[in-house]
Amino acid sequence: MNADQVSYYAERARDYESIYSRPERLKEITEIKSLLTDEFHGLNVLEVACGTGFWTQAISQTAKSIHATDINQNVIDMARLKEYGPAKVEFEIENIFDMETRDKFYNGGFGSCIWSHIPKQDFQFFLDGLLSRIEPGGKVILMDNIYVEGISTSIASSDEFENTYQIRKLSDGSEWVVMKNFPSELEIRSMLSDVADNLKVRSFRTFWVAVFNKKV
Ligand SMILES: C[S@@+](CC[C@H](N)C(=O)[O-])C[C@H]1O[C@@H](n2cnc3c(N)ncnc32)[C@H](O)[C@@H]1O
Repeated sequence: MNADQVSYYAERARDYESIYSRPERLKEITEIKSLLTDEFHGLNVLEVACGTGFWTQAISQTAKSIHATDINQNVIDMARLKEYGPAKVEFEIENIFDMETRDKFYNGGFGSCIWSHIPKQDFQFFLDGLLSRIEPGGKVILMDNIYVEGISTSIASSDEFENTYQIRKLSDGSEWVVMKNFPSELEIRSMLSDVADNLKVRSFRTFWVAVFNKKV
C-alpha cells in the first residue's frame, strides 16, 4: 500500500476533476463558484495547492490576479493548459510547508481541499506560512469536504493526533492510504479564531467554505 500523499495526487492528476462532475455536486459547485467570484472580485489572490486549476478558473473571472501554487509539477502542467481570464494568472511550484515570507504580499488567499490533508499537529505552521503572505485585512478562503455518509470514502484508521485516513484506489488498481480530516465547524472556528476577523463558515452539501479577513 502506498502512503505518500504528494505522489498520490501526482498519480491521480488525470482523473482528479471527475469528482467535480458527480451529479450530486453540481448544484453546490455552481453556488461555491458564485461565492468565490463575489468574494475575490478585484483582488490579487495567492492560491495554494491549486491542483489542476478547477477553482482557479472560476476565480479568474473576477479577481485581478492569481498566483497559483502546488507541489506537483504535473498538476501545474495540467492547470496551465486551461483558459483563464480576465485575471492575470501565473503558476509556481511551492510546498505549503515552505512558505517563507517574501516581499510580495496578496490581499486574497485561497486553498481548496488542502486543509483535510494537513496533519492536525502541523496546521498552525501551515496557517502562519500562508498568512505571512497576506496583507493585514486581506480576504482568505479555505474550503474542504464535509463527511457525508454514503458519498464520502469511509475512514479506515486514525493516529495519535486524531488525524483520520482513507484507503483510496486509483484507476490503475494501485491502493493508497491518504490522510483526510473532516473538521467540524467548531474545530474550524477554533483553529482560525486567533487569526480571523469576520469569520463566516458556510456548509454546502459536500463542502464547507470558511471566509475571513486576516486580523489587522
Ligand atoms: C485534493 S487536491 C486539491 C486540488 C485543488 N485545490 C482543488 O480543490 O481542486 C490537493 C492538492 O494539494 C497538493 N499538495 C499536496 N501536498 C502539498 C504540499 N505539501 N504543498 C503544496 N501542494 C500540495 C496536491 O498536489 C494536490 O494538487
